[in-house]
Amino acid sequence: MAKGPFRSLAERVAFYWFAFFNFFLFLFLFLKNGAYTKGESRQDEAQYAIEKDRFWNLSKPPLPGFKHYFHTLRSHLKLHYISNRDGPARGNLVVFFHGFPDSSMMWRHLFQEKELPLQDASIVAVDLPGMGGSDSFPKYDTEVLEALTEFVIAMRDKYIPLDETETTNTIIVGHDWGCVLGFRLASEAPALADRFILTNAPHVELAFANRDRVLQSSSKIFKQFRQSPVQNWACLSKSIKTLNPLIQQTLRMGYIFMFNLPAIFVGHMGTAAKCAFIRGANNLGYSRKSGEYRAQECKASSFGPGPEECTTSINSSSKPEDMYGSTVLDRAKSHGTAFYQMTGLYRDGAGTLPWTKSLETIADLYALETSASESPSPSRRRSSISNGALFTDPRKGCLKAPTYVLWGEKDTACGKPICLDGLGDYLAKDSEIILLPRAGHWTPVQQESRAVLAKMINLCAGKNAKPVPKMADKIKEVYEGAVLLAQK
Ligand SMILES: *[C@@H]1O[C@H](CO)[C@@H](O)[C@H](O)[C@H]1NC(C)=O
Ligand SMILES: *[C@@H]1O[C@H](CO)[C@@H](O)[C@H](O)[C@H]1NC(C)=O
Repeated sequence: MAKGPFRSLAERVAFYWFAFFNFFLFLFLFLKNGAYTKGESRQDEAQYAIEKDRFWNLSKPPLPGFKHYFHTLRSHLKLHYISNRDGPARGNLVVFFHGFPDSSMMWRHLFQEKELPLQDASIVAVDLPGMGGSDSFPKYDTEVLEALTEFVIAMRDKYIPLDETETTNTIIVGHDWGCVLGFRLASEAPALADRFILTNAPHVELAFANRDRVLQSSSKIFKQFRQSPVQNWACLSKSIKTLNPLIQQTLRMGYIFMFNLPAIFVGHMGTAAKCAFIRGANNLGYSRKSGEYRAQECKASSFGPGPEECTTSINSSSKPEDMYGSTVLDRAKSHGTAFYQMTGLYRDGAGTLPWTKSLETIADLYALETSASESPSPSRRRSSISNGALFTDPRKGCLKAPTYVLWGEKDTACGKPICLDGLGDYLAKDSEIILLPRAGHWTPVQQESRAVLAKMINLCAGKNAKPVPKMADKIKEVYEGAVLLAQK
């Protein structure tokens, strides 16, 4: 049934009402927490300049053992990334996708974990479009998936020696938005990587399926109540109770509605109370005990280069291809613009719109799949066979590449009932979902959970990496109480 004009108007009103409700709720919380009145001292500003220079000055290493690089896409837009290697080298390739509101620098703590195979693997952390040092995109729709596919293939070509393509594995690690996009790639471009490691963000198709399931059961129960309210009085409360996980999830994700307001409101949210939103989001990643939270360092990681860093170049070459693009300078000049671009993923449908691949992408993925199916290695062939099952998708969005899902249970943004329950049904072979009961949303940042992530990466991509029959058992060795939720 088509929606009547009245119904769509009502939906729009409700949407904007809720978006503005959240907007003012956040401003109220900033006020209540004193974020407006706590001034940034001169010292803070100086520290911010130091951190920006440390992370984003292209003429020096951003992190110990890493250098800056750019990759120019077919669209002429540039992605910025950091890597521990200059070119082809022995060892597996691990590509990292960060989330919101972040950049490649979000991985800085993980990259210093001793288990991370910095000596034995090629590590690549890219800035997502519109964030860090990567160009802003005109739209953050499935172009983002196109860009990441093109990027990963370019990194395989750059870092994997030609005679070792058979024996070298590519691993994609994604957190938050990097995880959302990772789920899509594992489902729609599985040949890109031999394994995905994804942490703390919804698989969008699953979340929609869970939403619809909750809505349907709740409305069925409500119908019973409506038929005979007196007899079925209890059904009213039962139908509301059934709806509860969905209400909770909607409230937790209220900020997403807010990011769909006009640019001026979104930009204001990014700068209000001295960037209280960004500071608050970053602060959540650190336990108070750890003493690791550095406000200015986090802010420099979230907002990317400043105008000063936009004058620098790789190897001081001053060539345009070794410098940040002009869209990065636009963001560098205004935190409001930067925040608006950063939130584009929430508005433009990178997670939800159907992805009609470009001919170039189809050709590239096809080449990867055929090379895998000709490979003598059985694990490769198996993954390519599962890729072939194009026309018998039992579930929309089911994954077709081996995936480890690592889930911090205390996530304040993504609740289990809508974002995780039922994910086991979407897994491909050789996959596991592992729950970390003490971890929150920021698994790559929190001390205890990032050690787990480093270990997983080492087992999959380190020096003597070989197939792990049961990853959860290995994780329990370093994280007491880790739970295996599902396995395929
Ligand atoms: C970037 O770093 C180089 C080397 O440390 C330094 O000489 C230069 O002044 C820095 N550039 C800017 C714009 O801060
Ligand atoms: C920078 O210069 C060094 C030595 O001159 C060279 O080995 C390296 O490849 C250059 N890096 C980039 C990214 O061009």
